[in-house]
Amino acid sequence: MRLQQCYKTDDFRRLAKKRLPAPIFHYIDGGADDEVTLGRNTSAFDDVDLVPNVLAGIDSVDMSVEVLGRKLDMPLFMSPTAMQRLFHHEGETALARTADKLGTMFGVSTLGTRSIEELGAMSAAPKLFQIYVHNDPGLTTSMIERCREAKFDALALTVDTIVAGNRERDYLTGMTTPPKLTPRSLLSFMTHPNWTLNYLAREKFDLPNISASVDAGSKVPVSVMEYLNKELKRTISWDDAANMIAEWGGPFAIKGVMSVDDARRAVDIGASAIMISNHGGRQLDGSRSPIDQLPAIVDAVGGDIEIIVDGGIRRGTHVLKALAMGATACSGGRLYLYALAAAGSQGVRRAMSLLQSEIERGMLLMGCKSIADLRRNMLAVR
Ligand code: FNR
Repeated sequence: MRLQQCYKTDDFRRLAKKRLPAPIFHYIDGGADDEVTLGRNTSAFDDVDLVPNVLAGIDSVDMSVEVLGRKLDMPLFMSPTAMQRLFHHEGETALARTADKLGTMFGVSTLGTRSIEELGAMSAAPKLFQIYVHNDPGLTTSMIERCREAKFDALALTVDTIVAGNRERDYLTGMTTPPKLTPRSLLSFMTHPNWTLNYLAREKFDLPNISASVDAGSKVPVSVMEYLNKELKRTISWDDAANMIAEWGGPFAIKGVMSVDDARRAVDIGASAIMISNHGGRQLDGSRSPIDQLPAIVDAVGGDIEIIVDGGIRRGTHVLKALAMGATACSGGRLYLYALAAAGSQGVRRAMSLLQSEIERGMLLMGCKSIADLRRNMLAVR
């Protein structure tokens, strides 16, 4: 299978599976515990049917949305994800290039593998930095200052990760970050010599956005799980979020809101957006899917705050369903991560372009000229 034969997320997934050693592939692909939430995040979209309006007399559509202070040319952007240079040597550069090309936004993780400064200088596209509240407040403040300097548009505070999720696939495959040769992983690295030689030859990357907190100058990244469990403030509260909003003073999203009450609190403390998200099923298994939870949240706070749906999106029609329910925009991780692993920039660009065409075609077939034309009465929930 080649890149040109990839048309849907699952095609990129298959190519990524071929190209990556098993521990790395399953790190992207896997979820927490029994992966019930991981599966439901996507399958829940099948419980919602689209009911198109025909004879609308349109021959083009406007897919643009305003989110976090910027206009995006499409209503789907790239969620922040960790460790991207493990998947492909280009890492976050591939996202920055794609966002520039397609007029969308990209997220950068605290555990990203390219620095806030490098990405800020490289791309004029809308950029969101994903931040945590650290035990060391100085570290959080320094990240905020670096984002300001590098002209990031928005911060997203991730609130669903006060303890790392139980990712059993990682135990089974011997996945560690950084990767270590263990008896279990050795065979997989040996049978993927392209990835392994490339990694050994040039991938001595660090995690530049947290490097102040780990051995200065060390090129060996810390273990992600250890970092999450040790460095992040477990007792993070609404006061922490409110303080960060004041400190940043710009567009601000809270990522990982699932309940209606929490959505209301996000409005109360002045957040610009919530990202309804269960971290792609990687944290609390059994957590409801974002699309299932969306209508109740829209009914409670729609119009008071931007609502971003993050999780399970694999098709343009998934985006249309969320927007018709009242979401402001959608975002996703694996939908571009498999493509990154498969083919770097070319892969991410192809995956996001295909999704863009699917959204465009879907809007035409739904009889909707603009995103505002997508209404809840064009959906039937089974
Ligand atoms: C993530 N996600 C994530 N979220 C975050 O706030 N900080 C992070 O560092 C990461 N890292 C990360 C790594 C990998 C490999 C994945 C798959 C996901 C979660 C991400 O932002 C997003 O919420 C989910 O990916 C959404 O689900 P889908 O689109 O992957 O189904």
